[in-house]
Amino acid sequence: MNLYTRLINKDHPLPPDYVPENLTDIGIPFDAPCGDPKRLLEIRTAHAALMLIQAAQRESLILTGISGYRSYKRQQQLCIGHSNPASSTPYQQISPAPVNPYVALPGTSEHQSGLALDVSCPSIHMELSEKFSETGEGRWLKKNAPLYGFILRYPKNREEITGVPYEPWHIRYVTKPLASWLTITNLTLEEYHNFPARCSPPP
Ligand code: DAL
Ligand code: ZN
Repeated sequence: MNLYTRLINKDHPLPPDYVPENLTDIGIPFDAPCGDPKRLLEIRTAHAALMLIQAAQRESLILTGISGYRSYKRQQQLCIGHSNPASSTPYQQISPAPVNPYVALPGTSEHQSGLALDVSCPSIHMELSEKFSETGEGRWLKKNAPLYGFILRYPKNREEITGVPYEPWHIRYVTKPLASWLTITNLTLEEYHNFPARCSPPP
């Protein structure tokens, strides 16, 4: 399976002990202090994110990283709603469904792969909200992310397919060929993986 094109969702979770190789803080602007693990990305993803954000900067747009890598345990803490690093009880044993549909269950978040990045911008005070789609940065991202190998992973009106509400701020690195292909065909990553007969491979 290709690391970059793999499907990660509730039906295709990552093992609890999965930690991506080559996590790196490449120095993109982040709304988090140096040393915070959320600044980390898988190295090829990090390079692509740097190219993307520098291209936005050339158009005076301030795309800012909010959250990159998250460990299984960190995702567990987000789901439970408190930070108890001593707890190793899987969330699924506490509750069968996430309280917050914007927070994936541990193991099912793309952030654990190091291939996903949440971004925002100063004009909406670095919020992760639908307002981002109406900012210059949000509009630019939607149009340009595929040129750098990213897709907007949870598009509007595709919630029933992805299982996640619209998140205009969450980008996922899938490589340039696949990002272009999914953009041209208007397919989600779920559709690409689940219906291969209808979805030709990327060029
Ligand atoms: N917000 C996405 C679904 C996550 O938690 O990975
Ligand atoms: Zn995200």
